[in-house]
Amino acid sequence: MMLRVRVESVIQAARTIKLFELRPIDGDSLPAFDAGAHIDVHLPGDIRRSYSLMNDPAERHRYVIGVNRSEPGGGGSRYLHDEAKAGGELAIDVPRNNFHLVDTTGPVVLIGGGIGITPLWSMIQRLDALGRPWRLFYATRSPEHAILLDPLARYGERVSVHYDSIAATKLDIDGIVRVQPGSAHFYCCGPAPMLEAFERATASIPQECVHLERFAAQPGKAPVVSPACTVRLGRSGRFLEVPADKSILDVLLENGVEVGYSCMQGVCGTCETGVLEGIPAHHDDYLSRSERASNRKIMVCCSRSLSPCLVLDL
Ligand code: FES
Repeated sequence: MMLRVRVESVIQAARTIKLFELRPIDGDSLPAFDAGAHIDVHLPGDIRRSYSLMNDPAERHRYVIGVNRSEPGGGGSRYLHDEAKAGGELAIDVPRNNFHLVDTTGPVVLIGGGIGITPLWSMIQRLDALGRPWRLFYATRSPEHAILLDPLARYGERVSVHYDSIAATKLDIDGIVRVQPGSAHFYCCGPAPMLEAFERATASIPQECVHLERFAAQPGKAPVVSPACTVRLGRSGRFLEVPADKSILDVLLENGVEVGYSCMQGVCGTCETGVLEGIPAHHDDYLSRSERASNRKIMVCCSRSLSPCLVLDL
């Protein structure tokens, strides 16, 4: 569901990061969200970008997002940095969450890189409200590229800030993971190299304790090459042919089937669709290993079919 919000304020919080506070236009409150949630912002040129909500999930009167100005190719962030001003309006989707805080009592280890600190800051506010133990490791390029340093400083030794520009303070994810108790849950949000290091460091940990959120598809990933397949819509019984040069999502949309989508890279989870029969060829970075193995879900923007016919719950 799309809604319009007013830009209440814009703050230059770091050299390349602006914080946008968004308030409701109609009424006093916005749809509730959980820590780790994000919103999609609709921008001119049919651009849609996902940004994590970084404020306290208990707040209903506003959403706060942090936007890193990414160059080159940062059409969405450039627009927000250059054109979105206080008093203006934006169209957003209601919050969705692919990066839930799991309800456990053990320690929570948060590892954030760059703008990846934003969902973790929302989690910290929630964990504080619940009285749960946590530690944060925040890596960023330099002090000029860091946000939230003042509020984080209040937490003393629970927060470690690491600067890429200062070799002695570089983040050692292996070392961090190694010394945590077995009951710890690990959350990581950051750029691709950090996530790869995190995945390596946590490979031997039960995967239900490992949580990460990607900004984009893994770099260097080979494009999906797959033979044509047939999709059957389970509810109507309609058959649709998916040629080799189109995604299942393309074909669904061309045929007027309503499916949500956002990143088109298998990262955001918006296009998740139930599978009733057949075996998907998973090419996304969203589903967990166990979800893939179950063959009950597919990301139709990028995944294909290993079976001649895939029956979707549509
Ligand atoms: S549109 Fe984002 S995972 Fe498919």
